[in-house]
Amino acid sequence: MPTQAHPETALNNPITHPDRLPLVAPSILAANYAKLGEECRSARDAGGDLLHYDVMDGHLVPNLALGVDMLASLKADLPDAFFDVHLMIERPDLFAEPFAKAGAGHLTFHIEAMDPSRRGADARALFDKVRSLGMSVGIAIDGPTPIEKADALLPHVDLVLVMAIRAGFAGQAFDPAALDKVRHVRRLAPNTRIEVDGGVGPKQSPALLEAGADVLAAASAVFKVSPNERASVITQMRG
Ligand code: DX5
Ligand code: ZN
Repeated sequence: MPTQAHPETALNNPITHPDRLPLVAPSILAANYAKLGEECRSARDAGGDLLHYDVMDGHLVPNLALGVDMLASLKADLPDAFFDVHLMIERPDLFAEPFAKAGAGHLTFHIEAMDPSRRGADARALFDKVRSLGMSVGIAIDGPTPIEKADALLPHVDLVLVMAIRAGFAGQAFDPAALDKVRHVRRLAPNTRIEVDGGVGPKQSPALLEAGADVLAAASAVFKVSPNERASVITQMRG
């Protein structure tokens, strides 16, 4: 029996909330880091449901981004924001507890990090650990990885994150192959959240929502426009 989020956690968590409305998750990877607190507030006030927080270790993906202490500072500054943490790192099992303490509401880790060549821990044990820390849990599939690799794990997660790019950098072009991946997951897991990340903006959102996605992460589309245009971008994306 898969462990489910505690009912109280579910109600405070837009991902597991029974209403299951489509959510937009501004990804702060493309924000101005010199004023990150202000950028998070702007995205939240513009209607962002979740703040997508990309963590990269330079090993699983060829870039470095964000960390535990930065999240703790942002959460202290914006206590009512919900942080959707996307771990693009090896050994995600070592970081579940630090990110929970720092204020993460949801943790997604990569299926590629579970490979034995990367000393990957057992995915099922990690799902349980993440939930026992009060967070919802997701599994991410990188662009080049066949979606079927996630099939066996689908019944055990709250969210599947389908990458529409190769993980590592904001500002890449959306790969339409992600649409079939979303349809595949939606067929097998009708009640699981499907997040799409990479090259997503108002132009891509209608087809993604139609295919069955219900959480849209976007960095460039939200942060590379002026703050007063962000509300309109987010409203268009939500459909
Ligand atoms: C990339 C990150 C994405 C990134 C998306 O590996 O996981 O969340 O911020 O950036 P855009 O929306 O610019 O493609
Ligand atoms: Zn991401």
